[in-house]
Amino acid sequence: MFETSKVRTFFQGRVEKYDSIYDKDKKLIWKWLDFIFRRSIQIRFGLTLKECEDIKDKKILDIGCGPGMYMINLAKRQPKKIVALDFSEEMLNKAKKLARDKGVIEICQFVNSDFRRYVPDDKFDICLAIGLFDYLENPLEVLKKIRSICLGKAIISFPAKWRLRNIVRVIRLKLLGCPVYFYTLKQVKDLLTKSGFGDAKIITVDRDYLVIAK
Ligand SMILES: C[S@@+](CC[C@H](N)C(=O)[O-])C[C@H]1O[C@@H](n2cnc3c(N)ncnc32)[C@H](O)[C@@H]1O
Repeated sequence: MFETSKVRTFFQGRVEKYDSIYDKDKKLIWKWLDFIFRRSIQIRFGLTLKECEDIKDKKILDIGCGPGMYMINLAKRQPKKIVALDFSEEMLNKAKKLARDKGVIEICQFVNSDFRRYVPDDKFDICLAIGLFDYLENPLEVLKKIRSICLGKAIISFPAKWRLRNIVRVIRLKLLGCPVYFYTLKQVKDLLTKSGFGDAKIITVDRDYLVIAK
């Protein structure tokens, strides 16, 4: 649990920085740095939105929603509801503001909780966990929980092990006091099998594996 509080503290202070990754209107130097170090974030965003084209009347859970970029883009596609969950209150405040500004607040619900403690009163057609497993010391427990509340599709990213750029990421996060975890393809497959996600497509997206599981 000590590791968990380090992750929460880290994200409480990263709201604007993380949100700006999705901002297209920025200086060339930042665009270049994003391309070198964070292009996975952009690519997995596009692929996930594509996987969620037809979500009319569906119930969606966005686990570790961060500043809410997935939520607001999906909210325009007339789902029944979107629950945006994060244990960082600052991230949720940003997501709420965005939902209000974009006029989609009525179909969004916000839950300030560690996902491992979350007791949902409903199951979901689609569960998203993008950029979450990078920070989990107990991925199997979390994956099993997602499986137990997901009626349809789960879209999950896992940061790949053995990427050269991981060195920079490990050093940077270590200096900022945040733990980070990486996975081999075999580990991802084992986790999916053990958690009961038998039918899964795994796409290699630069430094991530993006899993579409049913
Ligand atoms: C890298 S951000 C990803 C945000 C968003 N999904 C995206 O891709 O734009 C990870 C988010 O997960 C949240 N998070 C990490 N561990 C969590 C946990 N155990 N329960 C709830 N939220 C968690 C962090 O607070 C952070 O906002």
